[in-house]
Amino acid sequence: MTAQKVCITLLMLAGAAPALAETPQQIQASYIAEAAHGFKPSAERGRELFVKQWGISERASACTSCHGKDMHAEGKHVKTGKSIEPLTPVVNAERFTDAKKVAKWFKRNCTEVVGRECTATEKADFIQFAIEGGKV
Ligand code: HEC
Repeated sequence: MTAQKVCITLLMLAGAAPALAETPQQIQASYIAEAAHGFKPSAERGRELFVKQWGISERASACTSCHGKDMHAEGKHVKTGKSIEPLTPVVNAERFTDAKKVAKWFKRNCTEVVGRECTATEKADFIQFAIEGGKV
């Protein structure tokens, strides 16, 4: 193989490789970096966001409408009835390890439930609550 071919092959391999897994703390850190200096995430504020009845969406009035009140347990999608894996990384090692997935679902779910995108501080608080076990 010529050097050029090796190079192209390596580039292709890099493109096909799955994104490196992140930790919940790393993903949370990127949201903290967006917040004002001195901001400290709070599990209590995260809990409030999780249980609050926002009253924007008729069927999904709260995060708990689909995720249930205990992040250790499976949730149930309020519209499709499909089960949703537990949201806390304490029992579900896949949670908060893929920044793109986290961003996508924060966007979709906050827009539906809260009526707007969640702020960076709300997301950092929510992740704190999840890391600490997410029990209401
Ligand atoms: C209408 C149902 C529904 C509601 C209400 C809902 N979610 Fe979700 N959520 C889902 C589904 C479906 C997924 C993706 C499936 C999965 O990851 O198991 C998901 C995934 C997530 C994830 C991805 C976590 C990860 O790393 O895998 C986050 C974060 C999240 N939701 C936050 C929220 C927050 C915050 C609220 C309230 C503002 C909320 N959700 C309300 C259905 C819902």
